[in-house]
Parts: sequence; structure tokens; C-alpha cells
Amino acid sequence: MAKKVAKKSKAKKPAKARSRSASKRSSAKVVKLKAAKKNGKTVKSTLPPPSRKPFGQAGKALDGVRILDFTHVQSGPTCTQLLAWFGADVIKVERPGVGDITRGQLVDMKGADSLYFTMLNHNKRSITIDSKHPEGKRVLNELIKKCDVLVENFAPGALDRMGLTWEHIHKLNPRMIVASVKGFGPGPYEDCKVYENVAQCAGGSASTTGFRDGPPLVTGAQIGDSGTGLHLALGIVSALYQRTRTGRGQKVLCAMQDGVLNLARVKLRDQQRLKHGPLTEYSQYGEGIPFGDSVPRAGNDSGGGQPGRILKCKGAPEDPNAYIYFITQAPVWGPICDLIGEPSWKTDPEYASPRARLPKLNQIFARIEQWTMTKTKFEVMNLCNAVDIPVGPILSMKEIAEEKSLRDTGTVVEVDHPVRGKYLTVGNPIKMSDSISEVKRSPLLGEHTDEILTKVLGFDKKEAAKIKTSGALSAPAKEDKAA
Ligand code: COA
Repeated sequence: MAKKVAKKSKAKKPAKARSRSASKRSSAKVVKLKAAKKNGKTVKSTLPPPSRKPFGQAGKALDGVRILDFTHVQSGPTCTQLLAWFGADVIKVERPGVGDITRGQLVDMKGADSLYFTMLNHNKRSITIDSKHPEGKRVLNELIKKCDVLVENFAPGALDRMGLTWEHIHKLNPRMIVASVKGFGPGPYEDCKVYENVAQCAGGSASTTGFRDGPPLVTGAQIGDSGTGLHLALGIVSALYQRTRTGRGQKVLCAMQDGVLNLARVKLRDQQRLKHGPLTEYSQYGEGIPFGDSVPRAGNDSGGGQPGRILKCKGAPEDPNAYIYFITQAPVWGPICDLIGEPSWKTDPEYASPRARLPKLNQIFARIEQWTMTKTKFEVMNLCNAVDIPVGPILSMKEIAEEKSLRDTGTVVEVDHPVRGKYLTVGNPIKMSDSISEVKRSPLLGEHTDEILTKVLGFDKKEAAKIKTSGALSAPAKEDKAA
């Protein structure tokens, strides 16, 4: 039956489907399904059938989208790497001779691009252009005409100083989406340069991370850089979708402070709750310590309001990761009591209700820890999950790198690089049933300069050679530098 439907569609495609394939977008096959009766009338449906290809093998979600990637360091490259994983053609513009500064940061292997760079720039092409050289500007202008999105995370004003103002870009290509990461949005700090930890502090994360009696802490997860890159990618995809209706590009701005605050929103929730009384799920409430006028640091208390702690397991503290996150969720209090050998706590009014437990959380978690310390974190996990108690083993990066299931799903991937050889990276964490997400190595500096000049921009060999000899695509000679 399915075969019959597919055959029919070949014979006569609806007009819309014909124009889409003509524009070389992904192979969208819209087929006619069986006619259905509605209110006595025959209505023809044009719903596509599900793909018959294996999971993730039916094309690329962003096929046909071309990105002018003017990003560097981490926030912007995170965004464009995501778009590249989904199939966008990402052309990374780098400064001749130097490239993205991270190529040479935290170098572990002399002569090879750093892991910092390679792990943020997969599936991209690299062209070197001096954006301040007149010929470089000409090449950039041509790229603007050929691309759908320009992504940048320069310091405030840098793009304008290159002459690439919104007005200039919009005039050259009204369909162009210009997406930027900045440290702060409009306001008193808009001109500041910002890095990861600055954003974590300014976005409210640091003041609410750490223990109450210790200093503010930054987290290891790069919520300022990678977090904002993720936000920007969503903005870009939304702008591309809106463009299908308006035909127009637009500006997309993600401030790192805003991105971090969005991720820390539960703490702004708690700030407002403070006006109405103490935050009873915070450990300090049970310990009788009064609250001030702003949200305190809550150690490992859970942001969702369920009492939770990180507890030692067998091997701790000698093994720094022999710990587990344990949550005493109300619905599973009974199974917890049975597991730890305190069945009477299920009915004892001193322990039976969440409210009664709040002032005793230290004592309760100490008792649970007595039990977890007799087992490895994985034994605790197995025993708890068998009775639906959610727990989180503290996995080291070594354990994650070796975890087979993460390799199987493509979340941890081994990539081969011509200079550094094989290395591990994190693949696309977003899995789609109809979109391939292969991870290809990051480009060498300027690796694709020639093919972009000729195949994307259409310069003939003579013109390409002229541009190259102008010095717009290469680093100044050493004596020029010294001058
Ligand atoms: N050709 C010529 N010049 C180039 C170039 C190219 N291909 N690429 C960059 N440059 C120039 C810029 O035009 C700028 O020159 P200008 O200051 O004369 O205008 C210069 O290089 C430096 O760029 P800048 O972005 O200021 O880099 P920086 O190293 O001084 O600052 C950041 C780095 C990250 C602090 C800054 O870019 C920033 O605040 N970005 C926004 C927030 C952000 O993304 N931060 C997180 C980074 S992970």
C-alpha cells in the first residue's frame, strides 16, 4: 500500500512540492494520501508519510541554509556548531595567520589546533579574510549576498567598526539574519567585554551557587558561553522560520547576562517567594538560620523544592566522585524508608509527612548516607531505580568518556584529525528522527579559502588569484609586522 502511494506521488506532485525541490531544498516529498470523506465531500489529503529511512538518516534539517560565521572563542562557535550539525553550510571567517584565538589556547599538542578549538568548530569550513583590508571587505560583501545568517560575537561595536553595520548588511541582502552574542543587553554595561564567568556572576548564578557559609561559586558547565550560544541558535532558527513568511531578515541578540538569568530563573522565583516567608525547602530553614533579603546559596539543595543532598557512597572521600545525589521525594518516601532500614518512619508522625521532615533533614540525610556508604554509587542507583527513587551518580569525566551508551548514541564521539589524530568530543545532544547529525572534524585555518572563493562566490581563477595576492586573505609578512 505504501509503495502504491509513493508511486502515485512521482507521477503527479502538487505544485508546492515541485517548487520546493526546484529550489534544491532537502528532498521534501509531499505525496497524496487516500482521499477522505468530510461532510459528504471528498477531501484530498497531502500529508507526507513517515520516513522509511533509518532513524536520523532522512536528510539534514538545515540543508540549504548558509551561515557566515564570524564567531570566536566559545559562545558564538557553540551556536554555529549546532547549526552545522543540523546541516547548515557554516563558513567560518578567521583572521589571517591567527584564526580563532582558541586555536592556540590550552594547547595540549604542539603544532595541532587545541581541543578547545576543535571541540567547538566541527562541521564548518574555514576561510581567512582580513576584514579591514579593502579586498577583504569586497569578499565579505559577496559572502553577505550569498549567506542566510551572519553570526558574530565580537566586542560591542567591532562589527560596525569593520563597516558591517546592520544598514549596510540589510542593503546588500535584505533576507540576511544578523545574530549576535554580547555580554550585556542595552543599558549601563552594554559596552563591556564579557567572558563566561563574568556572565555567570552578572546573571545571578554565582550568588546562588555554593554553600551558605562560603563564597559565591561559578559552575563547571559553561552556562554563560555555551548556554548563550544555545539560546542564539534558537533565535536564529526562529528568525529563519519567520523569514519564510516575511521574506525579511532581522537582528537577533542574545546577551550572556540574560541567557544565564534565564537558566537561573528558579532563583528569581525564590527571590519573590522570600517576601512571603522563609524558603522552607532550603536546608537553612530546617537548621533555624534566618533568611536575609536576597536568595541565599543553597549548597546542594534541589531547585525544584524536593529535599536533596549529595551523599557519600562506598569509596568516598578517597574517591572524589564516589557520591550520589539523593532526593527524598514525597511520593517515594515509603520505598526510601524500606531501603534504608527505617520502615517505622513511614507511619511515625515525626517523619511521615514532608512538613514534619523539614526540620530534621540533616538527621534524615545522615541516616540515608549511612546506607549509601555501604554501597557503590552504581549499586545505590540500581537499588533505588528499581523502586522509582530518582538518584544521580556523580559521574567523573573519565567515566563519561568511557560510557558505552553515550558512544552508542553519538553523544560522545571519536573524531579523527589530520594533525592531532583521534580525539573525543561531544556530538549533537539533540537527536532527530529525520535529520542526520554526523560529526566532522574542525577545519584547519583557511582550509577552504580557495573552494569558497571559487565555488561559493563564483570568482574565476584569475580573480581569486588577484584577491589572494592583494594580501586580504593572508597574514602580513613578518617584516611588515615589525614595521
Ligand atoms: N580581520 C581583521 N580584524 C579582525 C578580524 C578579521 N578577520 N576578526 C576580528 N578582528 C578584529 C576586530 O575587528 C576587533 O578590532 P577593533 O577592536 O579594532 O574593532 C579585534 O579583532 C578584536 O575583537 P574583539 O571581539 O574585541 O576581541 P577581544 O579578544 O578583544 O575580546 C571578547 C574578546 C570575547 C571579550 C569580546 O569579543 C566580547 O566581549 N564578545 C562578546 C561577548 C562574548 O561572546 N563573550 C564570550 C566569549 S566566549
